[in-house]
Amino acid sequence: MKPLLAGLLLALAACGQGTVLPATEAPVRPVVIAHRGASGDMPEHTLAAYERAIEQGADFIEPDLVMTRDGVLIARHDLYLSTTTDVAERAEFADRRRAQMHDGRERSDWWAEDFTLAEIRTLRARQPFPGRPKDQDGLHPVPSFDDVLDLVVREAGAGRIVGIYPETKAPGHHAAIGLGMAAPLLEALDRAGLASRGIPVFIQSFEPQILDELSDTSGWSLVQLLSGGPDDPPLNRIDHSGVGVNKALLFGPDGTATDFVARARARGLLVHVWTLRDDAVPPLFGSPEAELAALLAQGIDGVFTDFPGNTVSRLTDLQDPPPAY
Ligand code: G3P
Ligand code: CA
Repeated sequence: MKPLLAGLLLALAACGQGTVLPATEAPVRPVVIAHRGASGDMPEHTLAAYERAIEQGADFIEPDLVMTRDGVLIARHDLYLSTTTDVAERAEFADRRRAQMHDGRERSDWWAEDFTLAEIRTLRARQPFPGRPKDQDGLHPVPSFDDVLDLVVREAGAGRIVGIYPETKAPGHHAAIGLGMAAPLLEALDRAGLASRGIPVFIQSFEPQILDELSDTSGWSLVQLLSGGPDDPPLNRIDHSGVGVNKALLFGPDGTATDFVARARARGLLVHVWTLRDDAVPPLFGSPEAELAALLAQGIDGVFTDFPGNTVSRLTDLQDPPPAY
């Protein structure tokens, strides 16, 4: 057995997680999905964050997508802009601040849907997580989805195939204000010529409706996100390629494995798990290594991670490369 795998399994055993795998059967290496880019090191959803993740060996980069007033997909996690950009310090946009309902509560903020792409491009990104490096704040613009696609196409041209894993954020909200997301998403993917370049794609969403729409109109691999909340569709109704699941759903309170992975497998679904955060490991596991080991023991297919370089390092000693999608 390779030393790292042995270490992972020892860590697993030490924290009491499930059954230790036979030494001769190293699991297939899960794909590493750079969550918002290398967002542990860089301001999230910037080309610099995605480039860093690619340098670190990520298999996929993950842009979350929202829309501008003029109907352009941009890479942001939130509909609002105050936490990840300098918009609040920009005098020319002071009068754009407004309140609207968001996740069941009123929020006063600057909203991407009120800005044109040209205006968004004048903003600069910043690190929203306390304790993470802020030395890149103010340096990087907000990319459009086309910009992110250009990056993976350039990488493919240089011989590095990196997949793209876009998430449509709040597609129901966007549709309600006349900004349907499915058509521009599919047009952008087609324009980029990803299929002919062998660049893998997964499209993800928490909202089943847009996945059904995309399923009817396209052949891309689709992933239903599951948070464990009341809005999740039941697992036995999901018939897409896979699920992107909150890691909490895989473990009981004492750290033993739930039956989630087995039930997903029974439906033929890939299981991609979010989110590994080296700076916020659940106390149950105690270390990023032990957390990863516990997930590997369940045979998951992929991990979303804020620290793709560290995750890749922990996986590199496993025997098998990730499968090609
Ligand atoms: O898309 C997987 C995971 O990123 C879902 O959570 O809120 O970080 O987009 P969020
Ligand atoms: Ca996401």
